[in-house]
Amino acid sequence: MRSLLFVPADGGNKLDKAMASGADAVIIDLEDSISPERKEGARRSAADFLQDAVRMSRRPRLMVRVNAIATGLADADLDAVVPARPDAIMLPKAEGGADLVHVDAKLLAREATNGLADGHIKIVAIATETASALFLAGTYRGASTRLEALTWGAEDLSAELGAQANRDADGRFLDVYRLARALCLAGAAAAQVQAIDTVTVDFRDIAALRRETEAARRDGFTGKLAIHPAQVTVINEAFTPTPAQIAEARALVAAFEAHPGKGTVGVDGVMHDRPHLERARRLLARANAPSVN
Ligand code: COA
Ligand code: MG
Repeated sequence: MRSLLFVPADGGNKLDKAMASGADAVIIDLEDSISPERKEGARRSAADFLQDAVRMSRRPRLMVRVNAIATGLADADLDAVVPARPDAIMLPKAEGGADLVHVDAKLLAREATNGLADGHIKIVAIATETASALFLAGTYRGASTRLEALTWGAEDLSAELGAQANRDADGRFLDVYRLARALCLAGAAAAQVQAIDTVTVDFRDIAALRRETEAARRDGFTGKLAIHPAQVTVINEAFTPTPAQIAEARALVAAFEAHPGKGTVGVDGVMHDRPHLERARRLLARANAPSVN
C-alpha cells in the first residue's frame, strides 16, 4: 500500500470520492474525525458503505479506524463493522504487542460469528500516539499474524506530552516526533511489516508533501497516510519504483545469480553485498504489486 486515504465515516459523498481517488487503501474513520455524539450514526454509515464497497471488482483495500481500546468504544465499533467484512482495522493509540493480542482475540470471536475465515481481517497499528507507546514500539514482533503495517502519529502524542508544537518554524518535526518516526520504522522492520509514514496535515502544501514523502521513502517507509485526495498522486508516484530503479535492481539480482554463493559482487564499479540484494528484491516486489506491499 503506497497511499492510504482517510475519510470520515459520516463524510457522505466523500466516501465515494475516496474510492475513486486512486488511493491503494481507504481508511473509514470512526475515531478523531467523529465527535462522541455522532459515533453511533458513523458506525452505521461505515457498515452500510462497506457492505457494498467490498463487493466492487476493482477497489482499494478497505479499512476502518476504530476507537482506541482504552475508550471502551472499540467493541461497539467492531460489532458494527465486522459483519461488513473490512479488509483491515486501523488501531489508534496502540500500545505494543499486548494490545494487538487483545484486538486479535476480539476479531477472532467476531469472525466466527460472521462466517469469516480466522484472520481474514488484518491490523494496521498507529504505534506512537501515547508516551507509553514509544517504549513499546519494539514489542510488535510475533504478537499477531494479522499485523500488516505500523504507522505513526504526532498530533495525539504532542497533546499527551503537553507540547505547544510538534514542528519548528520551518515545518520540520521536532526531536520527540522524529524519535517517534524512527521507532515506527524500526518497530515495523523488527516485526517484518510495512512502515507507513504519518499524514502531512497541510493538504494545500504539495511541495511540503513531496518533500516529506521523498524523505520517508529514502528512510525505508513504503507508504504514507493521506487526508485529502490531492495528496494521493504525489504519494503513489513517490512510492512507485522508477524504470531506472527497477533496471538497477534487476542488474544487481542478475549479478548475484551469476555468482551463486558469493557474498559481494561488483556492478558498474561499485561493491554490493547481501543487504543490497535484499533491498533490490524488495524493490522488485513493490514494482510488481505496487498497491499490495
Ligand atoms: N476523501 C474523499 N474526498 C475528499 C476528502 C477525503 N479525505 N477530502 C476532501 N475531499 C473532497 C471534498 O469533498 C471536495 O469534493 P467536491 O469538490 O466535490 O466538493 C474535494 O475533495 C475538495 O475538497 P476541499 O474543498 O479541498 O477540502 P474540504 O474543505 O472539503 O475538506 C477536510 C477538508 C480536511 C475536512 C477533508 O479533507 C477531510 O475530511 N479529510 C479527512 C479527515 C480525516 O479523516 N481525519 C482523520 C485522520 S487524521
Ligand atoms: Mg488521533
